[in-house]
Amino acid sequence: MNLTLKIWRQKDANTKGKMVDYPISGVEPDMSFLEMLDVLNEELISKGEEPVEFDHDCREGICGACSLQINGEPHGPDRGVTTCQLHMRMFKDGDTITIEPFRATAFPVIKDLIVDRSSFDRIQQAGGFISVNTSGNTIDANAIPVNKDDADDSFNAATCIGCGACVAACKNASAMLFTSAKVSQFALLPQGQIEATDRVLNMVRQMDEEGFGNCSNTGACEIECPKGISLENIARMNREYLSANMKK
Ligand code: SF4
Ligand code: FES
Repeated sequence: MNLTLKIWRQKDANTKGKMVDYPISGVEPDMSFLEMLDVLNEELISKGEEPVEFDHDCREGICGACSLQINGEPHGPDRGVTTCQLHMRMFKDGDTITIEPFRATAFPVIKDLIVDRSSFDRIQQAGGFISVNTSGNTIDANAIPVNKDDADDSFNAATCIGCGACVAACKNASAMLFTSAKVSQFALLPQGQIEATDRVLNMVRQMDEEGFGNCSNTGACEIECPKGISLENIARMNREYLSANMKK
């Protein structure tokens, strides 16, 4: 396939960026999107030009590092996949593909297509954990009965990989789907009850402090989420938040 890539180039956080056109040829349909960018970067390096910086790590849909806005959609046109799992067979010979970083005030651009998502880390640090007494009388987790539906819902919430596509998809750049997944994975389990009140209050406060917007109620986040995190988690977080405020 021969393609035209329109890629956001930005030297650093303080320099204005712009879209730059790159023609590319010899792209195989079975290449992943990131492999196609690898080919482009090899060409750029051989010509003495700066390669395009983009985030990636596992390249198998697990780590959440890859984060590209492709033709206006986080992780591109396929559903239920991350950018590293997107294949070039989703595009046609002759296509023009726009590639931008995830856009949000709370995700400032570091360089080219790489954004700083440490705001997500700070939300996690505000409450995305449980404290377990390890003094010698700890109850084995397997000895604590958990309702099967709750266990399944908790597990599903825990599959959030923190990629940020939900934020990039939302017109308000809201982090409600991410934060609610992290709240829900503990709210549904007995182990998560001890700190439940502080957890939801602290995580929501941190989410607001980072500059994420309010839920737009459009459901764009759920559609673009590569892990199928459900909007039900946002409803659960809102209930948890209301009841935590009443207890305080
Ligand atoms: S909720 Fe989905 S889109 Fe948002 S960070 Fe988690 S995995 Fe990514
Ligand atoms: S590189 Fe790890 S999810 Fe894409």
